[in-house]
Amino acid sequence: MKKINVGLVGFGTIGAGVADILLKKREEWKKTLDIDINLKKIADLDIETDRGVNVPKELLTTNYKEIVDDPEIEIVIELVGGYDFAKKLILESIEMGKNIVTANKALLAVYGKEIFDKAIEKKVDIYYDAAVAGGIPIIKVVKEAMLANNIEKIFGIINGTCNYILTTMKNEGLSFEEALKKAQELGFAEADPTFDIDGIDSAHKLTILASLVYWREVKMEDFITEGIRKITSLDVKFAEELGYTVKLLAIARDREDGIELRVHPTLIPSKSTLASILYEFNAVMIKGNFVDELLLKGKGAGRYPTASAVVSDVIDIARNIINNSVGRVPPYHRGGELKRILPREEIITQYYLRFSSLDKPGVLAKITNILGDVGISIKAVIQKDGELKDGEYVPVVILTHKTKEGIMLKALEKFKELVGDIIESEPQILRVEEDL
Ligand code: HSE
Repeated sequence: MKKINVGLVGFGTIGAGVADILLKKREEWKKTLDIDINLKKIADLDIETDRGVNVPKELLTTNYKEIVDDPEIEIVIELVGGYDFAKKLILESIEMGKNIVTANKALLAVYGKEIFDKAIEKKVDIYYDAAVAGGIPIIKVVKEAMLANNIEKIFGIINGTCNYILTTMKNEGLSFEEALKKAQELGFAEADPTFDIDGIDSAHKLTILASLVYWREVKMEDFITEGIRKITSLDVKFAEELGYTVKLLAIARDREDGIELRVHPTLIPSKSTLASILYEFNAVMIKGNFVDELLLKGKGAGRYPTASAVVSDVIDIARNIINNSVGRVPPYHRGGELKRILPREEIITQYYLRFSSLDKPGVLAKITNILGDVGISIKAVIQKDGELKDGEYVPVVILTHKTKEGIMLKALEKFKELVGDIIESEPQILRVEEDL
């Protein structure tokens, strides 16, 4: 039985989980999979901290070159994260003819093409299932299992931090700040949660998914990304009253005239399956023209769920090596730019607008006239009042029918002229999706 030597760089939360699984399962896999995967070296700058897993001391080093320069190591697992060192490590390892497994979504979203082209040139494999939605095997699904299909749409809850915050706001009535604090205390959100709550992490993942699904290079700048900082308890409550739940969604839709890609907080029907994905869970709903809808739900982060995806990639590559079939499943699909990515103005969706407006005659008419003038049709209106004093503002919520975002942007320009007069500030605007 050929022994496949593996080097792991990055002995943090996920790295320790990967080491634990590789060491514990080695003997079993020799019998069940007929494969011998030997974790030969683990590199990290900090090899003193107890990671809570049993690893023979002699495996540990602070010098990653002991992995990159070891001719016996055929697979390098990159779990350091970030851009600079991770990119250097991966490119150096590829140059040395080593295959790569990585979970680094930020790196692949920005430098994916350069790294993948290098891997193809050097005839090595690079697998990255853990980069999107952690333990959910969505990359394998779109790269292999769904190849017969045109992907008509993807709706993904692919950031556990945001889903945790939005679920807590709805179920426990917390404000955004309180929910974020709770997520941090429980370890769901990073100390610096910017990438998560501003939607950047979801955008990295959508970039990777969309480039695989639509056979083209996708850049984050190609589509809009909005996070959840602007969601207030009031929005969560109004959404609920209207029968919706707020979720941060990554959306891809294949239209006749192009591809819609976007990441933003979205009102979705509370009865929909995705609305029932709670707390830190992730889910991806994906529709292929032949297979129809698939739904994958699971843990998008955490030691063992993410390590599960990493280890499965290691086994795939080990099998490729044993069968002389490295490169069998290429890292990305090079089909050319078959369809354009639609600019923001051409997105078609419904909108939720929340105004803080004066409660006096003619106010609602002025607001709705602006929508009517640009050609936007209204689906529902809610106004709430309380014990108002003269000159106070009340929330008014308008739900629209579908329209192009470019048209809504025109209406938003006109609403600006009402600020300080009949409305207190520019309206809160959220998108609404029903066909999921
Ligand atoms: N920080 C991500 C999340 C997990 O909250 O889902 C890693 O991508």
